Amino acid sequence: MSYNLLKGKKGIIFGALDENSIAWKTAERVHEEGGTFVLTNAPIAMRMGKINELAEKTGSEIIPADATDVDDIQNLIDKSMEILGGKIDFVLHSIGMSVNVRKGRHYTDLKYDWLEKGWDVSAVSFHKVMQVLYKSDAMNEWGSIVALTYMAAQRTFPDYNDMADNKAYLESIARSFGYFFGKDKKVRVNTISQSPTPTTAGQGVKGFDGFISYAEKMSPLGNATALDCANYTVSLFSDLTKRVTMQNLYNDGGFSNTGVSQEVIERFTEE
Ligand code: NAI
Repeated sequence: MSYNLLKGKKGIIFGALDENSIAWKTAERVHEEGGTFVLTNAPIAMRMGKINELAEKTGSEIIPADATDVDDIQNLIDKSMEILGGKIDFVLHSIGMSVNVRKGRHYTDLKYDWLEKGWDVSAVSFHKVMQVLYKSDAMNEWGSIVALTYMAAQRTFPDYNDMADNKAYLESIARSFGYFFGKDKKVRVNTISQSPTPTTAGQGVKGFDGFISYAEKMSPLGNATALDCANYTVSLFSDLTKRVTMQNLYNDGGFSNTGVSQEVIERFTEE
């Protein structure tokens, strides 16, 4: 269903890798709601070529950018404003990667150069994107910037590894930059804390299948899907949420406030 919530709005969407990506679903929904945007991803991710399908479907252009490289981000933002014909109304940061997770390195045995790489990609890149947007005065007033996060920033999930720390850092950047973006440019900055979702990044976490079915059984409304996340993001990009800022917003079917559920109790009750 479409409500034309983003009619006339222009943006940049980071992180659509394939049709499972949360950013992919978000691009589809933003398009349905009348928004126009530039798609971007790391040059290496372009090699898969999948993103071309999404670009065609949504009438979008693609500009490759490594989100850890400030020159790439500057080029992306300058070119996006040219293509879209003006300043930006919305940005989705949907980027995450930990080398330690990828290589199966335990949290008590991290390699620190891998940690730094993952931290740069998953957390500092959000600061870099916002700093370039801010300095270039590239955002329209009442614009909206969203990044995606996970509850391991607040509570321990052992296999989430150093991504937990990256997400805590990311959420803090949203608050810190949100203050200045709000005061100086009337732009809001939020993070959405999403349920486990079967995507390339999600499935890279050890024990993901157990993780996702446990969350499903713990959440009164069940796990939020990638489409649910896309819809929530659309609402945050729309004019209906103009003074929501500096928040970490849970889109998790109630998981984060549930101590235990009946389904989980039943599995641990001896007959
Ligand atoms: P995904 O694997 O489809 O997306 C991750 C994206 O990050 C990919 O498109 C990848 O190319 C991009 N990326 C990696 N390094 C990059 C770089 N240097 N520059 C630019 N882009 C780069 O997976 P998903 O799940 O859609 O991930 C999107 C966001 O959602 C991430 O921040 C992730 O941590 C977050 N999230 C995912 C959950 C899940 O269970 N899948 C749960 C909660 C949050």
